[in-house]
Amino acid sequence: MDLWSELGYSANPYSVAPLPPSAEGAELLVGRERELKQLRVQLSSTDTHPTIEGENGVGKTSLMFVAAYRAASDFSSGASSQLLLPVAQTLQIGSDAEKFEKEAVLAILSSYFDYETVLEEAGLFVPQTQELETWLRRPVLEGGGGGGSIAGFGLTATRSQTLNTTSGFSEAGLKATARDWLSSTFPSRDKGAFVAVIDNVELLQTSKQARDVLEAVRDGVLDLPGVRWVLCGAKGIIRSAVSSPRLAGRISQPIELRPVPDSLIPELTRRRLHHFANRPDPNPPVDPEGFGHLYQVSNKNLRNALKYAQDFSIWLMGEDQLNASASDKRALLEVWMAEIADQHAQVASLQRGQWKLLDDIAQDGGSIAPGDHEKFGYGTPQAMRFHLQRLEEANMVDTTIDETDSRRKTISITPLGWLVRYRRSGFQKMGSAGF
Ligand SMILES: Nc1ncnc2c1ncn2[C@@H]1O[C@H](COP(=O)(O)OP(=O)(O)OP(=O)(O)O)[C@@H](O)[C@H]1O
Ligand SMILES: [Mg+2]
Repeated sequence: MDLWSELGYSANPYSVAPLPPSAEGAELLVGRERELKQLRVQLSSTDTHPTIEGENGVGKTSLMFVAAYRAASDFSSGASSQLLLPVAQTLQIGSDAEKFEKEAVLAILSSYFDYETVLEEAGLFVPQTQELETWLRRPVLEGGGGGGSIAGFGLTATRSQTLNTTSGFSEAGLKATARDWLSSTFPSRDKGAFVAVIDNVELLQTSKQARDVLEAVRDGVLDLPGVRWVLCGAKGIIRSAVSSPRLAGRISQPIELRPVPDSLIPELTRRRLHHFANRPDPNPPVDPEGFGHLYQVSNKNLRNALKYAQDFSIWLMGEDQLNASASDKRALLEVWMAEIADQHAQVASLQRGQWKLLDDIAQDGGSIAPGDHEKFGYGTPQAMRFHLQRLEEANMVDTTIDETDSRRKTISITPLGWLVRYRRSGFQKMGSAGF
């Protein structure tokens, strides 16, 4: 039995997936006009790669997808002559620069398949991709074959080598081919570009690591013609990376993405509930008011609030309460939150010092830097670290140590930490959307 169809929805209205680069994504994106414009101007009028800095789950990937979708629709409607095409695959950068370069080039080349018709219609150069397609889709080659030329591509590849190895890849000359194609398709910025995301740069733990690997891919990935990379990251990593002199001329100052304002959360919820409704009287487990409350409890983290709404819906079904009245459902939401928070608080068995630190971090907005120890009454970073470790073991905070920058706010309260704190504060009304 599908919960959502039983409730009158064609899909999960609380889905935590990024908004897609489609009309649906554009309809569901709320409150980002200014940022969309900033991103769009950067894409169409500069040669540097745009960057977006914002906390996890704030909406970076969604913003970028919708911006790229809008740019593509402006082209089809004739409003713009610049063809900006979102690359479907988002890339994550690891510490292995060579591996990343290979993935990046392959992702861009795959976009030629996705956009063959669009490019043709726009009168832009389209390589004869058929043979490349066969080749890419058969990456582990049988072995034993001699050197073979891929007709029409000027590629000489040893067919016994696999694309999965770095040497196989570079010998194939794909990189050079990609460059040739891209500069033929998009000879200048005003013709357009593929727009691709490098997501979650903060997964590189330290800003030094991020700078090192971005510097390493500067020539090879960031300088590929006809490709605009949008770098997204949290916890100050982008801001820190763009300060590298070697990257300065290539990467734009970050667009800072703040949480969607409280005042727009009811509208955001309504749009989702309306968009996915497939009968006139759907039955939302979490209505705009309830969602506003979850958003406050999650410290304005959209992804976490959506996840809570989804989990609560499933719980409600288990409790046989899907048909409860709207006000009963809101009361049940409190019951559910208390239940989850209590389960976790009990298991955590934290001591006073740790609860106090959790409260202090929450009071300070939810994220602090290792260098903030004095502010919280600790003599040394190590003294604070002891309590942080216990909180981390209990999944209440998430910490990353950045040896190179003790001012980066790398310690933050987790979704669970926020829920437990809300419970501990005695269901204190939080923000304007409380009830
Ligand atoms: N402006 C918005 N309007 C409506 N929904 C949004 C908006 N921004 C984000 N969302 C929703 O919030 C969730 C998180 O968005 P997204 O994945 O884009 O965030 P992110 O910043 O890229 O996260 P991460 O740091 O984990 O990569 C998704 O479910 C997305 O649909
Ligand atoms: Mg993202």
